[in-house]
Amino acid sequence: MPVINVNNRNQYALITGATSGFGYELAKLFAKDGFSLVIVARSQERLQEVTDELKQQYNIEVTPISSDLFRPTAAKEIYDEVRTRGIVVNYLVNDAGQGEWGRFIDIDLQRSLDIIQLNICSLVALTKYFATDMAARGDGHILQLGSEAGKAPMPLLSVYAATKAFVISFSAAISNELEGTGVNVTVLLPGASDTDFFHKANMEYTKAYREESLQTPEDVAHDGYEALMSGESRVISGGKTKMHVYMANLLSDETNAVNMRKLMEPSEKEDGRTASGHSASHKERESIGRESGDLKER
Ligand SMILES: NC(=O)c1ccc[n+]([C@@H]2O[C@H](COP(=O)([O-])OP(=O)(O)OC[C@H]3O[C@@H](n4cnc5c(N)ncnc54)[C@H](OP(=O)(O)O)[C@@H]3O)[C@@H](O)[C@H]2O)c1
Repeated sequence: MPVINVNNRNQYALITGATSGFGYELAKLFAKDGFSLVIVARSQERLQEVTDELKQQYNIEVTPISSDLFRPTAAKEIYDEVRTRGIVVNYLVNDAGQGEWGRFIDIDLQRSLDIIQLNICSLVALTKYFATDMAARGDGHILQLGSEAGKAPMPLLSVYAATKAFVISFSAAISNELEGTGVNVTVLLPGASDTDFFHKANMEYTKAYREESLQTPEDVAHDGYEALMSGESRVISGGKTKMHVYMANLLSDETNAVNMRKLMEPSEKEDGRTASGHSASHKERESIGRESGDLKER
């Protein structure tokens, strides 16, 4: 068992999306440093697995909350539950997010609205509840999951990319507003990474997934965690992502859309990637009863 910093035991981090991908890796980083955790996702079974794993491996407190952040009332319910339990949240990580591949007009409207609810409305509501308390206490740290997708319009992933543009803009603005309050807001911009995201978004057949190199969730989480702990307002994870963001800033929205579309098109490569190499993503897939190539549910 690693040596735990007992001074952090009274500090709580609340992480949405902590059962897979970046959220899971971020939960492990907080756990390694001895923080107590509140972890949020939909799958109760997977939450229990991660709770047991983190408690056993790091000897920390873990409180699982099963909640569907597609629901407009979910953020308030989570906030109320945390308060009822007497937990003070010192670190908020708004990680949970989804996308959906396809032409906007072909995607079920409710699916697009759910994505906006999850990626924007629930993130804004959780930020509002916890940042208000943090500012009143004069101490708090917030990590928001943006994406390089928020820097360029993305045909065939239009709503998702637009939600991430919101997250980047919103986070930079409130980071500025909160200067001097003791509350830091960090936005993390990863590039395409090897998580369950592509599966939930029905993007397994795209060039981006099958042909491109992907970042590891471990590396992305490490970059986000370091930036959060040092109070940086933004971190772009990975050299390739930095280059993409640099180029996107130079080009027009129209040119960016043309470039992005190429990556979003179905791949014709027969021996490309078909499944995530990240173990938590495999478990996530099992817990929702899905396998690679099964595109029916989310
Ligand atoms: N992977 C990439 O290429 C990439 C790149 C840049 C940014 N991002 C962003 O990174 C964040 C994390 O994604 P990831 O790539 O780590 O994906 P992931 O492996 O699919 O993990 C998503 C996590 O969010 C939870 N979640 C999904 N929908 C939810 C809902 N409606 N309510 C509550 N929890 C929900 C999932 O658990 P349940 O399914 O049990 O709810 C899971 O714990 C997202 O905001 C994503 O947009 C991803």
